Amino acid sequence: MKNNLQKIVSSLELLAGLKDAGIFNAQTARTLKTAHMKRDASHKYEQLKTAITISQMFSSPFAKPDESVDGPIRFAFAENNQLIGMFPYDCHVLIAGQTGTGKSTLLKLIFAEAMMQGHKIVLIAKNKDLRNLISQNNNTLVINFDDTIKFNPLNPCGIPISDYCNLFADIFCQANNVFDGSKNYILEHLNPLYNLYTQHRTYPSLRDFYTKILSLKHPPNSRTTHYRESVLNRLGGMLYGTLGNVFDCSIGHENALLENNCIFEIDNITTEQQRFIVNLLLTKLFYHRKLNNNEKWMLIGIDDANLIFDASLETRFNADLPIIHNLLTTVRKSKINIFACTQTPHQVGASIHSNSFAKIMLPLSNGKDIECMQQSMGMKDPDQKAYCYKLKPREAIVKFSSRYQDPFLAQIPEVEL
Ligand SMILES: Nc1ncnc2c1ncn2[C@@H]1O[C@H](COP(=O)(O)OP(=O)(O)OP(=O)(O)O)[C@@H](O)[C@H]1O
Ligand SMILES: [Mg+2]
Repeated sequence: MKNNLQKIVSSLELLAGLKDAGIFNAQTARTLKTAHMKRDASHKYEQLKTAITISQMFSSPFAKPDESVDGPIRFAFAENNQLIGMFPYDCHVLIAGQTGTGKSTLLKLIFAEAMMQGHKIVLIAKNKDLRNLISQNNNTLVINFDDTIKFNPLNPCGIPISDYCNLFADIFCQANNVFDGSKNYILEHLNPLYNLYTQHRTYPSLRDFYTKILSLKHPPNSRTTHYRESVLNRLGGMLYGTLGNVFDCSIGHENALLENNCIFEIDNITTEQQRFIVNLLLTKLFYHRKLNNNEKWMLIGIDDANLIFDASLETRFNADLPIIHNLLTTVRKSKINIFACTQTPHQVGASIHSNSFAKIMLPLSNGKDIECMQQSMGMKDPDQKAYCYKLKPREAIVKFSSRYQDPFLAQIPEVEL
């Protein structure tokens, strides 16, 4: 009786060992079964233990995941050849890796699949790398902010005007590093301007707003004069730069941009303008989808997450938390899933680290970045930590925050997109 119990325990231990080592297959299962039925099983058990030891010598220190890591949007496979995939509702995703390690390629792979499954996509790209995704779905717009696109940042796109005024003032001031005094100045003059224009069933353009502020007179050297100058200076920068022609309209292509798959190439505008456009776009998409019932998800990929998620933006003196911080916690209600890529995860703020379902670490060379990702993934095992410093090309460490919670090693397939 005691012997029999010992055999059962040994079999179970071996079964767990085979599974952990990723070598539980038809062959090893048969060996285990025949060993269990034999009176003297020790020889077979030794064979299986040796197989486990050899397999462990050649594998990484990470657990071998089971089928719970799979999902319809597949992007990699694990050491035990288990497919790895996401569900569109797995909000959000942080992808970290030094330059050239394949972050944008991984975005393309994931977004191409999402498009094929009928989900909408929006990509904010820092160069032209992502535009060949059009080959997957030619109903995709590429917007590079040349003269062919028109966009009025003051078009509320269905959001009640008074709410939109607040949103616009917040986004404008955060993107341009101006503070509360200027924000209130904007609100004071933008609300009446909206009242005037909506009587004629249209909206003011950014130039209308600039002209309105230009026409205002205040006592010299007063605080109000200072606010006026700050606002004029930022508005002028936008209107007399690359975006001048784009913004020169009352109603532009906003609806087409909100409805279609879009790839925004933002490399030819200033950092402040990039931050302004991206935050404005995300806010409009969030409200637009909130107002319309959507069955399918929208995946938004941000190729350079530091632009809006940078840690320094969360700790600016005298400034509110970035808009994106609130958006990240609420956009899932509008079925929006954000994918953020970064070369320097230690410079990315807490909001994306704390609110990501999936974290994907491609090779990184800066110890600070590696330690940051280890902490973000809750990695404690010293062997796993040491492995992070020697990831090979196309190798990644993946951590999901539910379904399967241990970090595991993944191989990104070679793709041509
Ligand atoms: N999965 C892959 N399959 C095939 N080639 C790949 C893959 N991942 C990356 N590459 C190759 O490596 C190059 C660099 O990849 P990618 O542009 O995606 O890197 P990145 O991490 O986005 O770099 P950066 O941070 O500079 O934007 C690509 O041009 C591509 O040729
Ligand atoms: Mg890239």
